[in-house]
Amino acid sequence: MVLIKETDYGTPARHSDHLVTLEIDGKEVTVPEGTSVMRASVQAGVNVPKLCSTDSLEPFGSCRLCLVEVEGRRGTPASCHTPVEPGMKVTTQSDKLAKLRRGVMELYISDHPLDCLTCPANGDCELQDMAGAVGLREVRYGYDGENHLHEEKDESNPYFTFDPSKCIVCSRCVRACEEVQGTFALTVKGRGFESKISPGDVLFMESECVSCGACVQACPTATLTEKSIIEMGQPEHSVITTCAYCGVGCTFKAEMQGNEVVRMVPFKDGKANHGHSCVKGRFAWGYTSHKDRILNPMVRAKITDPWQEVTWEQAIAHVASEFKRLQKEYGPDSIGGITSSRCTNEETFLVQKLVRAAFGNNNVDTCARVCHSPTGYGLKTTLGTSAGTNDFDSVDQADVIMVIGANPTDAHPVFASHMKRRLRAGARLIVGDPRKIDLVKLPHVQADYYLPLLPGTNVAVINAMAHVVVTEGLVDEEYVRERCDLAAFSRWAEFISDERHSPEAVEEITGVPAETLRGAARLYATGGNAAIYYGLGVTEHSQGSTMVMGMANLAMATGNIGKEGTGVNPLRGQNNVQGSCDMGSFPHEFSGYRHVSDDSVRAIFEEAWAVGLQGEPGLRIPNMFDAAVEGTFKGLYIQGEDVVQSDPNTKHVTAGMAAMECVVVQDLFLNETASYAHVFLPGSTFLEKDGTFTNAERRLGRVRKVLPPKNGYADWEITMLISNAMGYEMNYGHPSEIMDEIARLTPTFTGVSYEKLDRLGSLQWPCNDNAPEGTPVMHKGGFVRGKGLFMITEFVATDERTNDRFPLLLTTGRILTQYNVGAQTRRTANEVWHEEDVLEIHPWDAENRGISDGDLVALSSRAGETTLHARISERMQPGVVYTTFHHPGTAVNVITTEFADWATDCPEYKVTAVQVRRTSKPSEWQQHYNELREKTTHISAEAKA
Ligand code: SF4
Ligand code: SF4
Ligand code: SF4
Ligand code: FES
Repeated sequence: MVLIKETDYGTPARHSDHLVTLEIDGKEVTVPEGTSVMRASVQAGVNVPKLCSTDSLEPFGSCRLCLVEVEGRRGTPASCHTPVEPGMKVTTQSDKLAKLRRGVMELYISDHPLDCLTCPANGDCELQDMAGAVGLREVRYGYDGENHLHEEKDESNPYFTFDPSKCIVCSRCVRACEEVQGTFALTVKGRGFESKISPGDVLFMESECVSCGACVQACPTATLTEKSIIEMGQPEHSVITTCAYCGVGCTFKAEMQGNEVVRMVPFKDGKANHGHSCVKGRFAWGYTSHKDRILNPMVRAKITDPWQEVTWEQAIAHVASEFKRLQKEYGPDSIGGITSSRCTNEETFLVQKLVRAAFGNNNVDTCARVCHSPTGYGLKTTLGTSAGTNDFDSVDQADVIMVIGANPTDAHPVFASHMKRRLRAGARLIVGDPRKIDLVKLPHVQADYYLPLLPGTNVAVINAMAHVVVTEGLVDEEYVRERCDLAAFSRWAEFISDERHSPEAVEEITGVPAETLRGAARLYATGGNAAIYYGLGVTEHSQGSTMVMGMANLAMATGNIGKEGTGVNPLRGQNNVQGSCDMGSFPHEFSGYRHVSDDSVRAIFEEAWAVGLQGEPGLRIPNMFDAAVEGTFKGLYIQGEDVVQSDPNTKHVTAGMAAMECVVVQDLFLNETASYAHVFLPGSTFLEKDGTFTNAERRLGRVRKVLPPKNGYADWEITMLISNAMGYEMNYGHPSEIMDEIARLTPTFTGVSYEKLDRLGSLQWPCNDNAPEGTPVMHKGGFVRGKGLFMITEFVATDERTNDRFPLLLTTGRILTQYNVGAQTRRTANEVWHEEDVLEIHPWDAENRGISDGDLVALSSRAGETTLHARISERMQPGVVYTTFHHPGTAVNVITTEFADWATDCPEYKVTAVQVRRTSKPSEWQQHYNELREKTTHISAEAKA
């Protein structure tokens, strides 16, 4: 195994149809027009010394180390800053250049600590390399002059240190923060010898820094260094894999020493992230070896019994015999399974296969039920495919970007950085959100239109935008005529033209000034390529599916689907939520979204799996809890999903969980759901297995095993053991064999294989004979369903209304440093940024209730009550409060209700009528739950011994 070192071309690639041929040190090279001489040199196999350049950043030209000679030109231009010209003859090595470079290096080294042997960057330091490359042998100025060697270290960030004594003020960090991350947290203070890098005269932890690590990666010296490198030393091999947090799906190099991860470095060739990352993927991997991880299987008869550790054989035999007993006593449909959107495609596929083939029913569902199921329904109905339309790179060609019900800078940070680059380059921006999210105003980014809509009024807003488009003659008629179902369009156009959908008519309902809405609609329709990006603020509503269809209507009407820079693009939450849906996790669909009632589809699976399959859809997650409470559903296998914390109306969920006789939880930690489990099967982390994840742009990326499973088995192997014990044989030797089966059985995946993934890096489905290398942009030239279908999207206000008792609306979301139920991020140093969920409340609402910043407040709805601390925030609009749901102690879902999307049962997390008041003690539920948790997480001391 080797340490993968990517080539640094010094300056970014340029794209042009015009090619330029030149000669560098006698070697001919041809590159696109606009390429720097430095980059052309590297392509020609000639490395020019450099310090201030790196190919993720625009050239800066400060270090003067990359000087070259060009035939016919005077002087020694900086190759990083000199564009190629046809016929140019460049010399990179000469006595004159060597002397000049040595002079530059002497100056750097005279003000640099000479502690290379004990420096953490020893062996991975560009300054050290350059000293060698220019043949530095002496420093004529000595080391006694004025210097920076006594500058103090800033160790405030939990993941990296800043040691200014080693800084060469190349400003790569400043530029990385600006150009790559878009945060602008760093500056160069002072001039000349006094120049210093500063995060704004405060410590890093007190600055605007979001700990993405781009500056650390860009730094050519040990000035900015990962603490893990300081503690453990340099890595000795690396493996390419995919981040296990969000739906951006960043590619990383896991850099290792033996079986220990030393650091995660975003991979430059990763097509979703292009070498960038956020604080979670780059730094928050410590949970994988956290002491809370459970590594041995455990069983117990009752949930209040202490857990008893058992062998894997005993645990699996127990699961199989319990599930068989339940099916015998209560019928074949009395058990089911929940697949995990944190696990790989292959693992998800096996769980649904286990349920359909071994359990003999279709009682399988996934957490997409509670997040993006309306995306699947809405986009399939209108366009023909249950997935986002465009790849991330397509944003580079968007002229108008509309972000609605999503907070990308927190929830999809790497894509947000990409989007911000495009916005800084001139794209226009519309933001729709009840809360003033960061994107509304950032350094060098400001929304052209901010729509401060009230929770629950998305459909009224999108209809009003469509109303403006239709009534002001902004429809792309040619596009509609050629590509859409005209009868459906006429019906829709008549419906949407009605005055009740006008911005003026809905102004009061939505809270968005009519003129703002009209302006946004006109910009979307006429501003060039327009792309919609949306998140759970769209889907988690009683009209989630209607809203998705409303966005598809608007995009079709304006010709904004089927080409780069456009589309209806869901920003999917979990790393593999797209994949878990693709793999047939829903109770009504096989892989590739084919209905279980379709005889011809079922026949394919019956033949391949050599078993009869049910043609009736099974239970969805909420129906499983209902049936459990009613006494007809008795056993559940849950792989990597914490339904007790993440699903709405916790009291109902826990009633369902408590009513079952055999709950099997497979997870890394004793999560909240495990409190109700009878069997705990320890799961494996993404570092411990092979497989694939599918990101929000339908991109399959490889997950590669970098260390053996600490628990003994990868999750797919555990599912296989259960299936075999149940009597349905599964014999896969490697996840690639599972993918081969998926490809055989799924028309949109027929061209997918591990060999191709290894060769191309990643693949976007559909990948088949029509698109052997995948499909970055869907619906090009025509919609997958044939003609685009406009759907009637009547706005129906949710039944969840404010009243005297509950006069405020609660909406929920995520924060950058934590991830969903927090099971992983709470077990990392990310806790320093967000130790608890807080309630954001507008100053007026706080004042009306006598609430001060930091007060403990009770948050109550008709479903329940919890307590948390208040944060007074102008981001909120009066009447709306907001919190995150990362901490089980907060139990925010005790508050959320049973209301759900009419089509898919996706819960209405984003709208709950609540009241807030000061309090001094935890809610009754919190007290009850803490006591229960105390009783249900006890591991028998005897077994542990
Ligand atoms: S901290 Fe590193 S990247 Fe930033 S100026 Fe100093 S040496 Fe260059
Ligand atoms: S870690 Fe990221 S946000 Fe923080 S200073 Fe570095 S580049 Fe900027
Ligand atoms: S943006 Fe998402 S996928 Fe990328 S590093 Fe962050 S959490 Fe991981
Ligand atoms: S690398 Fe060209 S001037 Fe520094």
